[in-house]
Amino acid sequence: MKKVYIKNFGCQMNESDSEVMAGLLAAAGYAPTDREDAADVIILNTCSVRLSAENKAIGKMRELGKLKAKRPELILGFCGCMAQKHQEALFKTLPFLDFVCGTQQIRRIPELIEQARKNREYLIDVSVMDEYPVDQSVAVREGMLKAWVPIMRGCDNYCSYCVVPYVRGREVSRPLKDIVSEVRRLADGGCKEVTLLGQNVNSYGKGLGDTKATFPRLLEHLNDIAGIERIRFVTSHPKDISAELIAQFGQLPKLCEYLHFPIQAGSDRILSLMNRKYTAGHYLDIVAKLRDRCPGIALSTDIIVGYPTETEDDFQKTVEVMRLIAYDSAYIFKYSTREGTAAAGRTDDVPLKVKEERNQALLALQEKISAEKNQALVGSQVEILVEGASKRNPARMTGRTRQNKIAVLEDAAALAGKSIVKEVRRATAVTLYC
Ligand code: 5AD
Ligand code: SF4
Repeated sequence: MKKVYIKNFGCQMNESDSEVMAGLLAAAGYAPTDREDAADVIILNTCSVRLSAENKAIGKMRELGKLKAKRPELILGFCGCMAQKHQEALFKTLPFLDFVCGTQQIRRIPELIEQARKNREYLIDVSVMDEYPVDQSVAVREGMLKAWVPIMRGCDNYCSYCVVPYVRGREVSRPLKDIVSEVRRLADGGCKEVTLLGQNVNSYGKGLGDTKATFPRLLEHLNDIAGIERIRFVTSHPKDISAELIAQFGQLPKLCEYLHFPIQAGSDRILSLMNRKYTAGHYLDIVAKLRDRCPGIALSTDIIVGYPTETEDDFQKTVEVMRLIAYDSAYIFKYSTREGTAAAGRTDDVPLKVKEERNQALLALQEKISAEKNQALVGSQVEILVEGASKRNPARMTGRTRQNKIAVLEDAAALAGKSIVKEVRRATAVTLYC
């Protein structure tokens, strides 16, 4: 049997796409491997969201080019957001590549590999489609307990810094019945937790022509599926979060008390330049409503520091909202110019050194807040879905709480795949010890 190694860069949607690639290739007779030297085909599923991610993928492919120089029969494919963005130009940078496949043509990968075997021309498919472009049902997942379930793809928001609308295309929602039947099938196979994926899940249903296919209705349908214990979703745009969805937190039993809710910046001037369509005040109101409805809700966020023209005063507004909101965790990024976006028309004028300093300052602030938040849980009871032995210490089991916090169990006898309730004994900024 031939072997394929799929290496993933980037977000959960990319991970989910890699699962679809693995499924399509399994049907075409390829077994998965995580060893480059054992692979007949190596695919990089790449990310374009920041330059650093792009550089990593190019560096990795150059390294694989050396492997191919020794083993010319090795087939190398470049997929994902960078493939969609750079298209033919990739063959110039990486002349040993066999094929380039865009984000909407994943189903063609087995065929491209077959063609590459027969003739050694450059093969490329980066065409885009109007309908939902991927058959999600073929995905092959690593474990069965938890699953990513895409519900929509693409993004119509055009935040000025973001390359996603250009590399993932317009928003397209997946039919509700397909999602429900996939989650039923997952539950039958032992899955207990689903994370719904989409660049902007709150606008789920747009364009489906079905007034019943809204995000809150979808959550209700999934909540009714026996076997599923937990439902999460990423990512939510503050401008699209509805009162109805807010009301579902703390009310729909399976909807976890956790929301990833990117604010990006605390300064209204910067938010407006970013084309985010909300103010910090509006965002704070939503957080107040969420906490009112669901006092235990954990919140995480994305922040960009060093957006063009960001002053110290703008930055301090971000510090202030982070203090006010006290997120459970935060992902902090240094602004990276992406060609083709609206922000690329502005000079990237915040020096790298200043971006670094702002990044470090926010990381330190967040670590302190995360530690305090977790410390406050010591002595309380939390529900943990046990996933398996801890990588660091195989004598311990780990899992996650409903608030999406990592829990380490000192009790090695806890059963993987079971939900248990435990007392938090001690805590760090990232882990609860139970
Ligand atoms: N530079 C830095 N961070 C970015 N993000 C998106 N585009 C950029 C960029 N050009 C961040 C945003 C988004 C997260 C997935 O990546 O914070 O929410
Ligand atoms: Fe990018 Fe904004 Fe769409 Fe998120 S909502 S993918 S940040 S354009």
